[in-house]
Amino acid sequence: MNNSELVKLALEARKLAYSPYSGFSVGAALLCTDGMVYKGCNIENSAFSPTNCAERTAFFKAVSEGKRDFVKIAVVGGESDSEITQNYCPPCGMCRQVMKEFCSADFEIIMAKNENDYRIKTLAELLPESFDKREV
Ligand code: THU
Repeated sequence: MNNSELVKLALEARKLAYSPYSGFSVGAALLCTDGMVYKGCNIENSAFSPTNCAERTAFFKAVSEGKRDFVKIAVVGGESDSEITQNYCPPCGMCRQVMKEFCSADFEIIMAKNENDYRIKTLAELLPESFDKREV
């Protein structure tokens, strides 16, 4: 699975976002070492706090199906009324911490506008000096 293919799946996932409160739709596609891909979208809630980000939706789907080994994730996000995502969408701090729980420092986060325009950072770059009880 190359980066462009994974971004396409994230764009597909974004179409299912439930984001009536923010009007911002996010999609993610998470590649496991076994080749399986889990897609996720953001799911908002009128009480706000129960909102789940696209990345965590993808992770929780994968982990709840027994997956623990991950290679990379593609993330796309933008205004819900547009199919085109204008900017790169970096994962929020909470999602980075969830990635930290299951991924190594070299796990790749692909922040994409579309399948031809994306930038890649490792988890270590996006979450330096992070907390992990297993390491302290
Ligand atoms: N959102 C994500 O799905 N992923 C992120 O990493 C950043 C934010 C969602 C949460 C909320 O539904 C909307 O984007 C606006 O913040």
